[in-house]
Amino acid sequence: MFRPLASLICLTIALAASPLVAQPATLQEMFESVDPAQIAKEARLRGNPRRGAIVFYASAAACAKCHVTGEGQSPLGPDLTRLGDKLSDVHLVESLLHPSKSIRKGYETVQLITIDGEVRSGMMVSEDDEQIVLRDAANLQTNVSIAKDDIEARLSSKVSMMPAGLVATLKSPREFLDLISYLFAIHEGGRQRADELQPTAEQLIPEDDTLNLNHAKIIRRAENG
Ligand code: HEC
Repeated sequence: MFRPLASLICLTIALAASPLVAQPATLQEMFESVDPAQIAKEARLRGNPRRGAIVFYASAAACAKCHVTGEGQSPLGPDLTRLGDKLSDVHLVESLLHPSKSIRKGYETVQLITIDGEVRSGMMVSEDDEQIVLRDAANLQTNVSIAKDDIEARLSSKVSMMPAGLVATLKSPREFLDLISYLFAIHEGGRQRADELQPTAEQLIPEDDTLNLNHAKIIRRAENG
């Protein structure tokens, strides 16, 4: 059964404050234990899409790396302002927590095993009689072409090119709810809404984490053992 979200948020605060819990569960694990419909509702009520845009562009989850087209680059993932047919709130929440649960059509992962025994996996860019062209997350700038003559086997993979566990890299439940509310906003409002919410260059400067370190607490911990 899923846990209620309010208790989750209290729990996160309690875990963060408690020196007794050596390894608190990640945000990812905690959100997986909550009903996604409840997360979606909470994001609608309390999420802030403007802050969510900053999480999208500047957090370690690097959403923009795969979902926005930069100069001379083609994104690995779909344009989130143009997902088409209205996707449900729950679908969008789940696509972050479990990317492989439903893989978007046209973005499936394939694995090619070459006659030399090498395994190449990536997203199919194109295919003709001579070759298959793949792109993988490690190198978004370059397509890899593999001659059909060199291919021993071809498997389709059930694993999305979108990494699982991105939510674990966020810093707080609030960041997750903000990010979801940003996704809702650009899904419904398209490119125009995304432009309105686009963070300024200043907002995108990554924070210096060391400024937030609680030195007193670290010293106390070090002294205690
Ligand atoms: C390494 C590249 C990569 C990163 C990083 C990434 N994504 Fe994705 N994303 C993809 C790919 C590829 C797909 C399409 C395959 C699929 O549906 O799983 C996708 C699909 C999605 C979808 C589902 C679209 C649909 O139609 O169901 C959403 C929503 C999404 N990403 C949001 C995000 C957010 C928010 C982040 C940051 C937390 C993020 N992505 C980070 C590559 C990435």
